[in-house]
Amino acid sequence: MRILVERREALSAAADVVASGFFERGEKETTFPRSLEKEDAALKGLLRSAWDRKELKGKRKELSTFHSADGNRRVVLVGLGPRDRYDAERVRRAAAEVVRGLKGKAARTVGFRLPSFAVEPVAADAAVRALVDGAVLGGYEFLKYKTTTEGSVEESTIHLGDEFAREEAGLKKVATEEIAITDTVVWTREIANLPADTATPERLAEEARGLGKELGLKVTVFDEKKLAEMHCGGLLAVGSGSSHPPRLIVIEYPGGARRGRTVAVVGKGITFDSGGISLKPALHMQEMKFDKSGAVAVLGILRAAASLKVPPRVIGVMACAENLPGGGAYRPGDVVRTFNGKTIEVLNTDAEGRVVLSDALGYVTSQYRPDEVIDLATLTGAEVVALGDDTAGLVCSDDKLAAGLLAASAATGEPVWRMPLTDYHRELVKSDIADVKNSTELTIAGMLTAAAFLESFAGASTIWAHLDIAGPAYTTVSTRKYQPAYQNIGATAFGVRLVTRYLQTAVHA
Ligand code: BES
Ligand code: ZN
Ligand code: ZN
Repeated sequence: MRILVERREALSAAADVVASGFFERGEKETTFPRSLEKEDAALKGLLRSAWDRKELKGKRKELSTFHSADGNRRVVLVGLGPRDRYDAERVRRAAAEVVRGLKGKAARTVGFRLPSFAVEPVAADAAVRALVDGAVLGGYEFLKYKTTTEGSVEESTIHLGDEFAREEAGLKKVATEEIAITDTVVWTREIANLPADTATPERLAEEARGLGKELGLKVTVFDEKKLAEMHCGGLLAVGSGSSHPPRLIVIEYPGGARRGRTVAVVGKGITFDSGGISLKPALHMQEMKFDKSGAVAVLGILRAAASLKVPPRVIGVMACAENLPGGGAYRPGDVVRTFNGKTIEVLNTDAEGRVVLSDALGYVTSQYRPDEVIDLATLTGAEVVALGDDTAGLVCSDDKLAAGLLAASAATGEPVWRMPLTDYHRELVKSDIADVKNSTELTIAGMLTAAAFLESFAGASTIWAHLDIAGPAYTTVSTRKYQPAYQNIGATAFGVRLVTRYLQTAVHA
């Protein structure tokens, strides 16, 4: 999707469709919204009569299309819901609704009328960002394996009109930045959506090398031989059932600020999680190609951080392996020695994410001494049970880091909810025969026992945040319209916009 910003009135431009938003009408509301007068005039009163017939309600998701009598103008009105509950998230969804709704409707170009979306409390810059998000991310489709497609919107223009003409320079700058971010989100989704036969650990390493070349970043790939020398027993154990060997991938972005802080971003990269010997049920198992989403998000975060030149130095670490059963596979009862010497008793081979992350966290904290560590992982089904498929669970050892991430969450609309980690959870992961165990006999607080396990590898004194993205990493039944659009199931690249925004704004001292 190409995005343009123009000063010109949307109605005087030549787009196939003009899109405007309007609020839900109250019970007794009789007066036609003043904000739609320009559209109404262009359509010679069509909108006003639709309003009088109570055809236009303005409810969320409501899309109404009007054609001028001469057939030269098409206007799409999108409901914004109640006026008093308006926010940037409504704009994202409304823009996506428009772009989605136009699929297969012979509309190649859309002009969004900014004044109908930039309404209190959504400032013009926030509205521009949200329109870019909604149009680009809502319009995204994974088409790599489709041999035929329906026509979709290819170009969206945000028209400032007289109302915002004076802010043109600033708004264009904001749009350019948001376009760069959404471009990376789309790029990330393309990789995250690849099936496991293609997106092997080595393929993810190739993607990282390619990114390094493109943006001048240092990339180091540790293959299975190197991992053995380094005593990365966690990655090797999880990957041992697969013919595609594990990789630990490190990407370094030096930072835009002169004496910036170092933030490590670590991702779980299980290219397919069958559960291993503790095999998962067949139903929905195909979704486990998305178990690499944390690592792929790290790839996207480094791409965005480097292209936007964020202030801190960022070290991206991807812990990649395929979890399959097989003659060489690791088993329940095995004890694994990890990079930093700590041992893990394996009770369930399906709790593999924390096992590969143990090496990655141990490695990055000892080699780079980062000021902060943020990990992203599709770690537990318990996270989905607790928070649903929209919201990520956050566990954080530091209130300032948590506040920074929650602020980025509010700004980007990627929802995050903080959960408590206590000694109760730390007790539950202690093992009788090793330092920790990867699963507990009790099926309670699964998201938090997993976090307690990770904390023991990040180090209790490290400023660390854990984002369990098992829910929001991919959609099955899409509730958010700017997440994967036309297909029910798809990668969202959750975390890319969130962590990038955090790195841009809120690295605490
Ligand atoms: N990859 C799964 C978690 C998951 C579940 C992600 C659903 C996305 C959607 C993870 O490796 C796993 O299987 N976790 C187990 C842990 C348990 C065996 C302790 C789980 O959550 O059931
Ligand atoms: Zn698993
Ligand atoms: Zn997994």
